Amino acid sequence: MGVSNFFILLCLILCASSVLVCNGGITSSFVRKIEPSVDMPFDSDVFRVPPGYNAPQQVHITQGDQVGRAMIISWVTVDEPGSNTVVYWPENTKHKHSAEGTVLTYKYTNYISGYIHHCTIKKLKFDTKYSYEVGLGLTTRQFWFTTPPQIGPDVPYTFGLMGDLGQTYDSNRTLTHYESNPSKGQTVLFVGDISYADHYPLHDNRRWDSWGRFAERSTAYQPWIWTAGNHELDFLPESGESTPFKPYTRRYHVPYKAAGSTAPLWYSIKRASAHIIVLSSYSAYGMYTPQYSWLEAEFPKVNRTETPWLIVLLHSPWYNSYNYHFMEGESMRVMLEHWFVKYKVDVVFSGHVHAYERSERVSNVAYNIVNRACTPVKDQSAPVYITIGDGGNIEGLANNMTWPQPSYSAHREASFGHAIFDIKNRTHAYYNWHRNDDGYAVSADSHWFFNRYWNPVDESTTTVDQSTTTVS
Ligand SMILES: *[C@@H]1O[C@H](CO)[C@@H](O)[C@H](O)[C@H]1NC(C)=O
Ligand SMILES: *[C@@H]1O[C@H](CO)[C@@H](O)[C@H](O)[C@H]1NC(C)=O
Ligand SMILES: *[C@@H]1O[C@H](CO)[C@@H](O)[C@H](O)[C@H]1NC(C)=O
Ligand SMILES: *[C@@H]1O[C@H](CO)[C@@H](O)[C@H](O)[C@H]1NC(C)=O
Ligand SMILES: [Fe+2]
Repeated sequence: MGVSNFFILLCLILCASSVLVCNGGITSSFVRKIEPSVDMPFDSDVFRVPPGYNAPQQVHITQGDQVGRAMIISWVTVDEPGSNTVVYWPENTKHKHSAEGTVLTYKYTNYISGYIHHCTIKKLKFDTKYSYEVGLGLTTRQFWFTTPPQIGPDVPYTFGLMGDLGQTYDSNRTLTHYESNPSKGQTVLFVGDISYADHYPLHDNRRWDSWGRFAERSTAYQPWIWTAGNHELDFLPESGESTPFKPYTRRYHVPYKAAGSTAPLWYSIKRASAHIIVLSSYSAYGMYTPQYSWLEAEFPKVNRTETPWLIVLLHSPWYNSYNYHFMEGESMRVMLEHWFVKYKVDVVFSGHVHAYERSERVSNVAYNIVNRACTPVKDQSAPVYITIGDGGNIEGLANNMTWPQPSYSAHREASFGHAIFDIKNRTHAYYNWHRNDDGYAVSADSHWFFNRYWNPVDESTTTVDQSTTTVS
């Protein structure tokens, strides 16, 4: 080929690449039918109350310590307090253990809760299937879970990701798709916005109860790691409810004390090969605040030799290119992002925006109010940001996007779904997003994650670097 032809070809390649970068990654052309998402009525099958006097309902479990040898078992009884005891035993053994929990109730405007039980069972063996029972006599109910393997750098583990779930027919589809996904999630990382009870007058807390019964088919059998979203605030001072997060914190206990935290809204756990930090977008995070100080002390404790994968959960996304909640995560990003880069967070999962988006590895930490350096740039020390607020709640889909797609946005689509983060070893994790409109095994976006500490190789899907973007 002649020299001039070669240059024309080169130019074509560069131009094509620039278009790719200028328009960011992929905005999926998949068009989902936009139909109203309505809450399933109270008499739906998923909300059925278990039969019998004072039968435990809304059973849910979560990790109960730092390393995965404890589990918090929670449930609700409605007729009387009943028993706080959990009886539990490892598979194939005769000897049963028991532990005593506590019981509480709360009032919310004109609503009075059932008896909410929380019991932490401890000193569990790693990697072991346990059965457990709650309730008394004829209304005893039995469930089971599997403890995680002992913490270690190459322990494979599979996390499910869901957010903004609610209790519509779409929510039920999302949960069913998660349960039926052939790459079986072992623990759910839930990025906030649970029941959407606050959609109703006086935040009808019966919708917290119905959500608990709906999700029990998963939450009783595998831990869900909870993150506080704005729909957990239940802040209604005009009706006398001025304690933020009241129903949420009464119903969902987390092991924050074990993580050295002073509040259940921010904490951390280690599980298998992952260190998971949970933050609250709706609690103070400015300098000197409890959350800021806790996080400042937490990051240096992360030991990548022990737990190579550093995952952060927070509700309101920092890199979001939809016209919904646009820039809402910005003040928190400004305060905390430099630590995420310094400590090489692998991935940040958020919700809030009712759609799906995955970013490239970018940071925006150079700006200092006098230097004008306020543009996101590709950064191999930065996390990938994933918005997974597509659980399918009553507020419907976020389908209005900013254009052009920003260069940091690798993949976005307005569909309901869930994701799977499948850790293989210290260097590799395979990530998939699944939309509800597809079959259970179909992946609509997939990505190999290379660990930022052990394997910090560029794994991005758009290949042109930032300097090309500036030139074009
Ligand atoms: C929810 O999903 C489950 C599992 O697919 C199904 O059995 C149930 O009928 C669904 N309920 C509603 C109200 O859609
Ligand atoms: C990190 O964990 C490894 C493996 O458990 C251990 O040998 C090492 O001492 C830990 N490092 C620190 C600073 O605690
Ligand atoms: C999308 O969002 C933009 C910015 O908020 C707004 O101006 C526009 O009207 C919206 N488009 C639709 C179709 O809602
Ligand atoms: C880690 O997992 C990846 C993906 O399965 C594999 O290609 C790689 O060989 C594994 N590394 C080691 C050290 O086993
Ligand atoms: Fe939200």
